[in-house]
Parts: sequence; structure tokens; C-alpha cells
Amino acid sequence: MHHLHREKLFSLLDDEESAIVYMKGAELMYRNDTDYEFPFRQESNFWYLTGVNEPDFHLVLDLKNQDYHLFAPKRDAQYAVWHGRVKTKDHLQDEYQPDHLHYESKLPQVLKDIDPDKIYCLNQEQSEFIEQFERELPIDLETLEDALTHCRVFKTGWELDQMREAARVNNIAHTAVLEALEPGKYEHEMKAVFDYHQIKNGLMQDAYNGIFAAGENSAILHYVENNREIKDGDLFLIDAGFECNGYSSDFTRTYPANGAFTDSQAEIYEAVLEAQKQVIEASEPDVKMEDLHILAARVMMQGLKDANIVKGSIDDIMEEDIFALFFPHGLGHFLGLDTHDVGGYPKGVERIDRPGIKFLRTRRTLQPGMVLTIEPGLYFVPALLEPALEDDTASKFLNASKLKEMMDLGGVRIEDNIIVTDDGYENMTDVPKERADIEQVMAG
Ligand code: GLY
Ligand code: MN
Ligand code: MN
Repeated sequence: MHHLHREKLFSLLDDEESAIVYMKGAELMYRNDTDYEFPFRQESNFWYLTGVNEPDFHLVLDLKNQDYHLFAPKRDAQYAVWHGRVKTKDHLQDEYQPDHLHYESKLPQVLKDIDPDKIYCLNQEQSEFIEQFERELPIDLETLEDALTHCRVFKTGWELDQMREAARVNNIAHTAVLEALEPGKYEHEMKAVFDYHQIKNGLMQDAYNGIFAAGENSAILHYVENNREIKDGDLFLIDAGFECNGYSSDFTRTYPANGAFTDSQAEIYEAVLEAQKQVIEASEPDVKMEDLHILAARVMMQGLKDANIVKGSIDDIMEEDIFALFFPHGLGHFLGLDTHDVGGYPKGVERIDRPGIKFLRTRRTLQPGMVLTIEPGLYFVPALLEPALEDDTASKFLNASKLKEMMDLGGVRIEDNIIVTDDGYENMTDVPKERADIEQVMAG
């Protein structure tokens, strides 16, 4: 299906002049000077255009003829000894269907034959590589990345199917973790359960470092140690997903480790859940992501006010950025070949320089075909809240005694993955999130 992606790119680039796109695929990486090989993962733009998830390939797109040249590495017998059977040219042709398949040594000759007036490259490193062969030509580093980003934001039907499959398996793996969760186990045991179900279902590559966080670790946004014992009374936060053919899934759930939320945990959980549900219901074409972010923040602040943790009017709480003390990240991001996928800030759109919103990864207006996460959260981070209690302005909005009682609660985040459709959204996440459903599953 990757020919559709090339056609989208062709339609955006000028075919009047004799120009080419040149792109180099990813290479294998090793740990320092050892023979430990990192799992290979193709660079996302190269994967998008070719479907090739193997090292050491190159691509040339001839814009005038709309011809696709794929260059494969020539593997020798030693390669076969160490890495396995070498694919024949027929095999590669059949698998990737380029208009022209060459070995990489043919690159200079093909460039000479096309004789382009201009070369589009993604970055300096790739342009330096191609300049070995075409010293005199103008290289354009401005256009290609923006054009590819535009293509990647709006998913094709085939891309959506890969994302639905990644989500289907993620639903299974997350539910298995919920069923296995109990005090006395370790965070890494939950990761083992999760990875087992992903790999058993054929997904081999995690989309990002999974977070398996108990107690106060659940308030650490990028917690990756995953090595602490899960205690009775802890919240347990899991934020994890794998890729299907390169396309990510990225869900978060937060559970009571012992199967029943305490009253304080329930108050925070309900505030986050209510925000998440309201935002998802409001997701449809022409809605701005920053407006959804503010909606989520307001709903969660109302929840904290009802719980007597913050005080004052919601307008003032928002105006004074008090919400950023509890919700210090963005509401969500594009999802695709990268977990934090491209296209959140098109040229000319800048981040909003305000504490509660500057980490929002997209300011786009929702349109059909976009895929994004909706992931509000509330966290008790002493490094943020203790100074706020000493601050003249912020402390007026905080109930110090209640806040101090909550300081070791950790955090709650709930994250679903949605596709924006013509009249609303499709939610690909199907893992229990109502309190009663969670408690019922955990009760066995
Ligand atoms: N786990 C990365 C994210 O949710 O954005
Ligand atoms: Mn996540
Ligand atoms: Mn996310």
C-alpha cells in the first residue's frame, strides 16, 4: 500500500522541473564497540514511502516520471552466515514492488542517467551523502520534510487498519495486566505480562519505553525503572503500547493495586475520567486541540475544587495557571509511525508560552483522518506543589492541609487513542476505565 503514500507526496512536489527526492534508510546500530545489535527500526519517513523495514536501503523518486527507484545493499556469503538467508532480487522486487530495483553500487549511475536539476533531501546528513556523487546540484532541505509531514498527518485506510490492529492487541495486553495486578508483585512483573501478550499476538516492537509505575512513581511522567514492589494502597499507572507495521498504540490506565480505590484516589480518578470523557465527546472536525486542552483542565480543576484541594473560582484558577501545578503536560498528541507523530505544529504556528499549555504537542484543528491521543492527568509532584504552598499567589488557591495529606498519592492519567471521523471520532481503546468496571475485573 505504500504506493499510495508516494502518490500523495508526488502530488505535493513540483513535477515541472527534473528533480528527485533522495532518502537514505536507517542502518543497524550496535552498543558501543560490542556485537550487541539494537533491534532494527526503520526511519519513519523512509518506512512511510517504501514499506522497507530492513537496514541499508536508499530511495530515489524521479518527480518528472513519477518513478520509484529502490536501492538494496548487496549482501555477501558472510552476511548469510551471520544474519541468515539473503533475499534475491526477485524476492525484493516482489515484496516492495519498486519501478526499478538496483543494488546500491548503482546509485551514481542512476543519478547520472536521470540528470536532475535539483535534489530534495530531508536533512544535512543525507545531503552530504548524496553530494559525493552530485557535487554541483542545488539541494533543497526546506520542502521535503513539510510535504511528508502533511501526508503523514492524514492517515489512509490501510494506515488506520494498522493502528486498529496495534490497538486491538494493546486492548488485550492492558486487560491482562489489569487481571494480573496485585500488591506484592513488582512493576517489572506487570511489564512481563504486558510484553508477553504483545509478542504472543505478533507485535515485536514497543512504541516507546513503557511506564509501569506504582505509588508515587505514578506521578513521574517518564518513569522507566519499573523495578519497585507494588504495595497495598498504591495506585498503579501503566502507559504502554507496541507497533503494528510501524504504527503505534499508546494507552494509559490507572488502577488501585489492591482492587478498590480509596476515597481520595476515587476523587482524583473521577476528575480525570470526567475530563477525558468530556473531551472525547467534544472531539470532531473543526475543534481546536488547545480548546480541548483547556476544557480538560477546567473539568479537572472543578474536580479538585469539589475535593477541597483547590479553592477560588475556576476562571481565576485558570487565569493564574494553578492548573499547571497538577496537569503539567499536554492533553494529547498525533499518533502514527512515531508515538509523538509529526505535524503538531505546522510552519508559522508556535507553542503558547504559558505554564499550563506550553507542553501541548499539537495546536492543530481536528480534521477527519487524524489520529491522536486524549490523555488528561492529575499528579501530586512535591517538587511543584511544595514551592507553590510558599508562593503568595498560588497558595491562596490551595488548601494546604488537604494537599499535604495527598502528597504521596502519585498520579492518575487515562489515555485513549481516537481517529477523527467525518462526524466525530472512533475510539480504538477498549480497556476498562469506569471505576466499577475496574473493581469488578480485579475482584475476579
Ligand atoms: N507515553 C508517551 C505519551 O503518552 O505521550
Ligand atoms: Mn502514553
Ligand atoms: Mn501519549
